[in-house]
Amino acid sequence: MKQSVKMIVGNWKMNGLAADLSAAVVEMLADLKGRPASARVGLCPPATLIERMVRTIDGGPVSVGGQDCRVEAKGAFTGGVSAEMLVDAGARLVILGHSERRQEFGESDALVSDKVGAALRAGLTPIVCVGETLAQREAGEAASVVRGQILGSLNDGLAGQDWALAYEPVWAIGTGLTPTLEQIAEIHAAARAAMVERLGDGGRAALILYGGSVNPGNARDILAVDEVGGALVGGASLKAADFLAIIRAAEPAVVAADGQG
Ligand code: 13P
Repeated sequence: MKQSVKMIVGNWKMNGLAADLSAAVVEMLADLKGRPASARVGLCPPATLIERMVRTIDGGPVSVGGQDCRVEAKGAFTGGVSAEMLVDAGARLVILGHSERRQEFGESDALVSDKVGAALRAGLTPIVCVGETLAQREAGEAASVVRGQILGSLNDGLAGQDWALAYEPVWAIGTGLTPTLEQIAEIHAAARAAMVERLGDGGRAALILYGGSVNPGNARDILAVDEVGGALVGGASLKAADFLAIIRAAEPAVVAADGQG
Protein backbone atom coordinates (compact mmCIF):
# COMPACT_ATOMS: atom_id res chain seq x y z
CA MET A 1 0.00 0.00 0.00
CA LYS A 2 1.45 3.40 -0.96
CA GLN A 3 1.01 6.15 1.60
CA SER A 4 0.53 9.60 0.12
CA VAL A 5 1.81 11.83 2.93
CA LYS A 6 5.24 10.69 4.05
CA MET A 7 6.94 11.50 7.33
CA ILE A 8 10.57 12.61 7.43
CA VAL A 9 12.15 12.73 10.88
CA GLY A 10 15.67 13.82 11.77
CA ASN A 11 17.45 12.20 14.70
CA TRP A 12 20.32 14.41 15.81
CA LYS A 13 21.44 11.82 18.39
CA MET A 14 23.99 13.36 20.80
CA ASN A 15 24.88 16.21 18.47
CA GLY A 16 23.99 19.86 18.61
CA LEU A 17 24.70 22.99 20.58
CA ALA A 18 22.70 26.18 20.57
CA ALA A 19 24.94 27.57 17.83
CA ASP A 20 24.08 24.65 15.52
CA LEU A 21 20.40 25.41 15.91
CA SER A 22 20.45 28.82 14.38
CA ALA A 23 22.51 27.66 11.44
CA ALA A 24 20.60 24.47 10.60
CA VAL A 25 17.04 25.14 11.67
CA VAL A 26 16.74 28.72 10.54
CA GLU A 27 17.99 27.79 7.07
CA MET A 28 15.56 24.90 6.92
CA LEU A 29 12.59 26.97 8.06
CA ALA A 30 13.30 29.70 5.54
CA ASP A 31 13.24 27.10 2.77
CA LEU A 32 10.10 25.36 4.05
CA LYS A 33 8.27 28.66 4.39
CA GLY A 34 9.13 29.50 0.78
CA ARG A 35 7.84 26.19 -0.56
CA PRO A 36 5.90 24.27 2.10
CA ALA A 37 6.69 20.57 2.24
CA SER A 38 3.91 18.09 1.60
CA ALA A 39 5.61 15.64 3.97
CA ARG A 40 5.24 15.67 7.75
CA VAL A 41 8.59 16.82 9.11
CA GLY A 42 10.03 16.14 12.56
CA LEU A 43 13.34 16.93 14.22
CA CYS A 44 14.59 15.23 17.37
CA PRO A 45 17.50 17.17 18.91
CA PRO A 46 19.12 16.34 22.23
CA ALA A 47 16.75 17.04 25.15
CA THR A 48 18.76 20.15 26.05
CA LEU A 49 17.76 21.79 22.76
CA ILE A 50 14.08 20.85 22.55
CA GLU A 51 12.66 23.99 24.10
CA ARG A 52 15.01 26.25 22.16
CA MET A 53 14.20 24.49 18.90
CA VAL A 54 10.46 24.79 19.57
CA ARG A 55 10.90 28.52 20.13
CA THR A 56 12.99 28.86 16.96
CA ILE A 57 10.38 27.02 14.91
CA ASP A 58 7.58 29.04 16.54
CA GLY A 59 4.53 27.29 15.11
CA GLY A 60 6.29 26.45 11.82
CA PRO A 61 5.81 23.25 9.87
CA VAL A 62 8.24 21.08 11.87
CA SER A 63 7.36 18.97 14.92
CA VAL A 64 10.07 18.68 17.55
CA GLY A 65 10.68 15.41 19.38
CA GLY A 66 12.72 13.64 22.01
CA GLN A 67 15.00 10.66 21.45
CA ASP A 68 13.90 8.62 24.48
CA CYS A 69 11.82 8.90 27.62
CA ARG A 70 11.47 7.07 30.88
CA VAL A 71 8.38 5.06 31.73
CA GLU A 72 7.71 7.01 34.95
CA ALA A 73 6.22 10.51 34.89
CA LYS A 74 8.52 11.76 37.68
CA GLY A 75 10.53 10.57 40.65
CA ALA A 76 13.97 9.63 41.93
CA PHE A 77 15.56 8.68 38.59
CA THR A 78 18.69 10.80 38.36
CA GLY A 79 19.33 11.90 34.80
CA GLY A 80 15.97 10.67 33.57
CA VAL A 81 13.59 12.60 31.33
CA SER A 82 9.89 11.69 31.30
CA ALA A 83 7.41 11.89 28.46
CA GLU A 84 5.59 14.58 30.40
CA MET A 85 8.81 16.63 30.57
CA LEU A 86 9.27 16.33 26.81
CA VAL A 87 5.73 17.62 26.29
CA ASP A 88 6.37 20.39 28.79
CA ALA A 89 9.38 21.45 26.69
CA GLY A 90 7.18 21.55 23.57
CA ALA A 91 7.90 18.14 22.03
CA ARG A 92 5.24 16.35 20.00
CA LEU A 93 7.15 13.19 19.04
CA VAL A 94 9.48 10.73 20.72
CA ILE A 95 11.81 8.11 19.24
CA LEU A 96 11.71 4.91 21.31
CA GLY A 97 13.70 1.67 21.19
CA HIS A 98 16.44 3.01 18.92
CA SER A 99 19.10 0.33 18.39
CA GLU A 100 21.69 2.55 20.07
CA ARG A 101 19.56 2.49 23.22
CA ARG A 102 18.85 -1.22 22.89
CA GLN A 103 22.60 -1.89 22.55
CA GLU A 104 24.13 0.77 24.82
CA PHE A 105 21.52 0.67 27.56
CA GLY A 106 20.23 -2.90 27.22
CA GLU A 107 16.66 -1.81 26.52
CA SER A 108 14.36 -4.81 26.05
CA ASP A 109 11.24 -5.07 23.93
CA ALA A 110 9.15 -5.07 27.13
CA LEU A 111 10.75 -1.84 28.34
CA VAL A 112 10.22 -0.22 24.94
CA SER A 113 6.55 -1.24 25.07
CA ASP A 114 6.21 0.38 28.51
CA LYS A 115 7.89 3.54 27.20
CA VAL A 116 5.41 3.59 24.31
CA GLY A 117 2.63 3.51 26.90
CA ALA A 118 4.26 6.43 28.74
CA ALA A 119 4.53 8.43 25.51
CA LEU A 120 0.85 7.86 24.72
CA ARG A 121 -0.13 8.80 28.28
CA ALA A 122 1.63 12.13 27.79
CA GLY A 123 0.15 12.73 24.33
CA LEU A 124 3.36 12.21 22.31
CA THR A 125 3.52 10.51 18.91
CA PRO A 126 5.84 7.51 19.41
CA ILE A 127 8.25 6.36 16.69
CA VAL A 128 9.12 2.78 17.60
CA CYS A 129 12.42 1.48 16.19
CA VAL A 130 13.25 -2.09 15.21
CA GLY A 131 15.97 -3.67 13.08
CA GLU A 132 18.31 -6.62 12.76
CA THR A 133 22.07 -6.79 13.27
CA LEU A 134 24.42 -7.86 10.47
CA ALA A 135 24.88 -11.29 12.07
CA GLN A 136 21.11 -11.76 12.20
CA ARG A 137 20.74 -10.74 8.55
CA GLU A 138 23.56 -13.06 7.48
CA ALA A 139 21.84 -15.89 9.37
CA GLY A 140 18.66 -15.24 7.34
CA GLU A 141 16.83 -14.00 10.44
CA ALA A 142 16.10 -10.38 9.51
CA ALA A 143 12.34 -10.76 9.02
CA SER A 144 11.85 -12.97 12.07
CA VAL A 145 13.93 -10.66 14.32
CA VAL A 146 11.93 -7.64 13.19
CA ARG A 147 8.66 -9.52 13.73
CA GLY A 148 9.72 -10.48 17.25
CA GLN A 149 10.73 -6.91 18.10
CA ILE A 150 7.41 -5.60 16.80
CA LEU A 151 5.33 -8.14 18.73
CA GLY A 152 7.27 -7.32 21.90
CA SER A 153 7.77 -3.56 21.58
CA LEU A 154 4.33 -2.40 20.51
CA ASN A 155 1.72 -1.53 23.11
CA ASP A 156 -2.01 -2.24 23.09
CA GLY A 157 -2.65 1.49 23.48
CA LEU A 158 -1.27 2.24 20.00
CA ALA A 159 -4.39 1.14 18.12
CA GLY A 160 -6.15 4.22 16.82
CA GLN A 161 -3.35 6.59 17.88
CA ASP A 162 -0.87 8.62 15.83
CA TRP A 163 2.37 6.65 15.77
CA ALA A 164 4.99 5.25 13.40
CA LEU A 165 7.30 2.29 13.20
CA ALA A 166 10.89 2.78 12.03
CA TYR A 167 12.78 -0.10 10.41
CA GLU A 168 16.47 0.60 10.94
CA PRO A 169 18.83 -2.26 10.13
CA VAL A 170 21.61 -1.86 12.71
CA TRP A 171 24.34 -2.51 10.11
CA ALA A 172 23.03 0.33 7.93
CA ILE A 173 23.14 2.99 10.65
CA GLY A 174 25.96 5.46 10.12
CA THR A 175 27.81 3.10 7.77
CA GLY A 176 26.82 4.35 4.33
CA LEU A 177 25.47 0.85 3.63
CA THR A 178 21.81 0.29 2.82
CA PRO A 179 19.75 -2.80 2.06
CA THR A 180 18.67 -3.24 -1.55
CA LEU A 181 15.27 -1.84 -2.44
CA GLU A 182 14.00 -5.44 -2.61
CA GLN A 183 15.28 -6.14 0.90
CA ILE A 184 13.63 -2.97 2.19
CA ALA A 185 10.34 -3.98 0.54
CA GLU A 186 10.57 -7.48 2.01
CA ILE A 187 11.12 -6.29 5.59
CA HIS A 188 8.55 -3.50 5.39
CA ALA A 189 5.96 -6.04 4.22
CA ALA A 190 6.94 -8.37 7.07
CA ALA A 191 6.77 -5.45 9.50
CA ARG A 192 3.26 -4.53 8.35
CA ALA A 193 2.13 -8.13 8.80
CA ALA A 194 3.58 -8.19 12.32
CA MET A 195 1.94 -4.84 13.19
CA VAL A 196 -1.44 -6.27 12.14
CA GLU A 197 -0.68 -9.53 13.96
CA ARG A 198 -0.01 -7.53 17.13
CA LEU A 199 -2.69 -4.81 16.91
CA GLY A 200 -5.28 -6.13 14.46
CA ASP A 201 -6.75 -3.39 12.31
CA GLY A 202 -4.97 -0.92 14.62
CA GLY A 203 -1.71 -1.95 12.95
CA ARG A 204 -2.77 -0.95 9.44
CA ALA A 205 -2.65 2.85 9.45
CA ALA A 206 0.71 3.68 11.04
CA LEU A 207 3.52 4.69 8.70
CA ILE A 208 6.63 2.52 8.48
CA LEU A 209 9.73 4.71 8.17
CA TYR A 210 13.03 3.40 6.82
CA GLY A 211 16.21 4.47 8.62
CA GLY A 212 19.90 3.78 8.03
CA SER A 213 22.22 5.85 5.82
CA VAL A 214 19.41 7.74 4.09
CA ASN A 215 20.93 10.61 2.10
CA PRO A 216 19.90 12.97 -0.70
CA GLY A 217 21.22 10.50 -3.27
CA ASN A 218 19.19 7.46 -2.21
CA ALA A 219 16.11 9.00 -0.57
CA ARG A 220 13.88 9.20 -3.62
CA ASP A 221 14.35 5.53 -4.55
CA ILE A 222 13.91 4.32 -0.97
CA LEU A 223 10.82 6.47 -0.40
CA ALA A 224 9.21 5.03 -3.54
CA VAL A 225 9.38 1.46 -2.20
CA ASP A 226 6.03 -0.08 -1.30
CA GLU A 227 5.18 0.38 2.39
CA VAL A 228 7.97 2.92 2.96
CA GLY A 229 6.04 5.72 4.60
CA GLY A 230 8.97 8.00 5.29
CA ALA A 231 12.49 8.13 6.66
CA LEU A 232 14.26 8.40 10.00
CA VAL A 233 17.45 10.26 9.19
CA GLY A 234 20.57 10.46 11.35
CA GLY A 235 23.74 12.04 9.98
CA ALA A 236 22.12 13.74 6.99
CA SER A 237 19.63 15.53 9.27
CA LEU A 238 22.52 17.52 10.77
CA LYS A 239 23.04 19.37 7.49
CA ALA A 240 20.09 21.57 6.58
CA ALA A 241 20.69 21.26 2.83
CA ASP A 242 20.82 17.46 2.96
CA PHE A 243 17.79 17.16 5.23
CA LEU A 244 15.81 19.52 2.99
CA ALA A 245 16.76 17.48 -0.07
CA ILE A 246 15.42 14.35 1.65
CA ILE A 247 12.19 16.18 2.56
CA ARG A 248 11.83 17.25 -1.08
CA ALA A 249 12.43 13.65 -2.19
CA ALA A 250 9.34 12.66 -0.19
CA GLU A 251 7.08 14.92 -2.18
CA PRO A 252 4.80 13.52 -4.88
CA ALA A 253 6.58 13.17 -8.23
CA VAL A 254 4.47 15.88 -9.85
CA VAL A 255 5.77 18.43 -7.35
CA ALA A 256 9.33 17.17 -7.50
CA ALA A 257 9.48 17.06 -11.30
CA ASP A 258 10.91 20.56 -11.54
CA GLY A 259 14.08 19.61 -9.69
CA GLN A 260 16.03 16.85 -8.10
CA GLY A 261 14.80 17.73 -4.62
P1 13P B 1 22.16 7.49 9.86
O1 13P B 1 21.17 8.16 8.97
O2 13P B 1 23.27 8.38 10.31
O3 13P B 1 22.62 6.18 9.29
O4 13P B 1 21.37 7.12 11.22
C1 13P B 1 20.14 6.48 11.14
C2 13P B 1 19.52 6.50 12.47
O5 13P B 1 19.97 5.83 13.39
C3 13P B 1 18.35 7.37 12.67
O6 13P B 1 17.69 7.09 13.86
